[in-house]
Amino acid sequence: MAILADTLQETYEHMERKLSGIVPEIELLYKAELVYEINRLKLERGAIILGHNYMEPALFHTVPDVVGDSLELSRKAAETDCDPIVFCGVRFMAETAKILNPDKTVLLPARVAGCSLAASITAEDVRGLRREYPGVPVVTYINTYADVKAECDVCCTSSNAASVVEWLGSDTVIFLPDEYLAANVAQETGKRIIFPTKEEPDLPRAELDYELIGWHGRCEVHEKFTVDDVVNVREQFPGVLVLAHPECSPEVVAASDFSSSTSKMSAFVQETDASSYLLLTECSMGDNIMADNPDKEMVRLCSIRCPHMNEITLEDTLNALKNNEQVIEVPEDIRIRARRAVDRMLEIG
Ligand code: 13P
Ligand code: SF4
Repeated sequence: MAILADTLQETYEHMERKLSGIVPEIELLYKAELVYEINRLKLERGAIILGHNYMEPALFHTVPDVVGDSLELSRKAAETDCDPIVFCGVRFMAETAKILNPDKTVLLPARVAGCSLAASITAEDVRGLRREYPGVPVVTYINTYADVKAECDVCCTSSNAASVVEWLGSDTVIFLPDEYLAANVAQETGKRIIFPTKEEPDLPRAELDYELIGWHGRCEVHEKFTVDDVVNVREQFPGVLVLAHPECSPEVVAASDFSSSTSKMSAFVQETDASSYLLLTECSMGDNIMADNPDKEMVRLCSIRCPHMNEITLEDTLNALKNNEQVIEVPEDIRIRARRAVDRMLEIG
């Protein structure tokens, strides 16, 4: 959360208290100047900074007014009176903020900051599925671009995916685009799932027994975790509690002790008392949890970083505020249709 400090020295001291041992001393000195300047400029401009849980620790713990998972940040984006909104997250998140705030300036402090899930599906793909399965409602994970959301009935996040599917009360639901999240939702809701583009391609649809229809998108970070990783860490750290984001494979989720959104994973660590925790998610989040829980031991498999979340730096956040970069735009016809899907999700809760 944003530091309330009147001077650069106070900013540095706050960062040192919170982050020493996590961020190297030399980096703290340099980053304190950026943080001080960002927070000064943010006040001057009446801006709000929203920060996803995957932001690097020196940013996560210093400049965002609100931190959280995709659902919490969407809710905050829907409520805020501040303008501009600086989104320290990836493009689809900033787009969601713009969908909810057409009259405000939404800034993403990176030129690209994509997402392998958002890149896995197009609006035409959704139209194709609708032609193939007429009348079947379509849920899209929030990790998609606005034109894809515009073709769907309702959004969901990792925090509410099963509730959104159940809320639809439909015999069959199309769930896009994360293959693993869809399979995990199927497991949780007791539904049978097919992936029409690759599973049993020769069988006529009518002969398949299914209630969920998935897509073949994957998170390039979470797909890399394996059951062997879990087994090896359990051997090395008896008593470890394993937390897997639901973008991990169903086998990895089944081998874990807890699976939910990034914020719910953080809360789980806070509220439990284990000898150590293994986080199967983007690595910076482990640093962020460690800074908040210095007494807890976090085990992480840090060969795996999200290259898109890592695009967001303090330097670029300052630049975003100084020069109004990168301004997120969503064409109005797409925005209006995408908003229906986002609003429905926010209403479901
Ligand atoms: P959360 O909504 O759980 O924060 O997940 C967002 C994401 O992109 C995970 O990879
Ligand atoms: Fe996308 Fe995976 Fe990165 Fe999340 S961690 S933004 S799902 S690529």
